[in-house]
Amino acid sequence: MFTIRTFKPTDMFSVIKIASETLTEQYNPSLFNYFYETYPQGFLVAEKAHKIIGFIVGVKTSINSARILMLSVSKPYRRQKIGSTLLKQFIEQITKEYVKNITLEVRTKNHEAIKFYEKHDFKITNKITKFYQNGEDAYIMEKTLF
Ligand SMILES: CC(C)(COP(=O)(O)OP(=O)(O)OC[C@H]1O[C@@H](n2cnc3c(N)ncnc32)[C@H](O)[C@@H]1OP(=O)(O)O)[C@@H](O)C(=O)NCCC(=O)NCCS
Repeated sequence: MFTIRTFKPTDMFSVIKIASETLTEQYNPSLFNYFYETYPQGFLVAEKAHKIIGFIVGVKTSINSARILMLSVSKPYRRQKIGSTLLKQFIEQITKEYVKNITLEVRTKNHEAIKFYEKHDFKITNKITKFYQNGEDAYIMEKTLF
């Protein structure tokens, strides 16, 4: 069993470790602090036996829209619905704040994540060329909540 809860500053080391192991983009550690301070309710972690095994970071971009910036599950714990539960809990949170639309960017080559988001009713709406640091392209995916 795993639990989902909001991020605490003591989770920082574990979150940075998962991000560096699982996300292609390199993030400055201070960015995580910034997200936490800006919109703490959008920063959730999955925990199992006192170990952080996944996280999601999302922000509100306007009064009724939100953007997912990062979502990651540690490799040995994938395909156990941890990513789905993190996403659902994030959506539950932003729905309370009347958010109607969520967007995110995903590498066009990240077929696993694209399948994951499609499973959660996100649709590809656009493509941004050379979006990432290494020159890869991104799809924008969107979901309308109600
Ligand atoms: C994308 C990611 C967060 C999914 O997390 P997860 O906990 O493994 O996903 P879930 O177990 O909740 O999967 C739910 C459904 O999504 C789809 N899915 C998830 N991973 C998939 C994969 N590797 N291949 C195909 N479909 C996949 C499946 O339909 C799955 O349901 P099923 O297992 O019953 O078939 C995880 O693979 C990950 O951390 N990837 C690396 C980081 C990343 O790419 N993040 C997203 C871009 S920001």
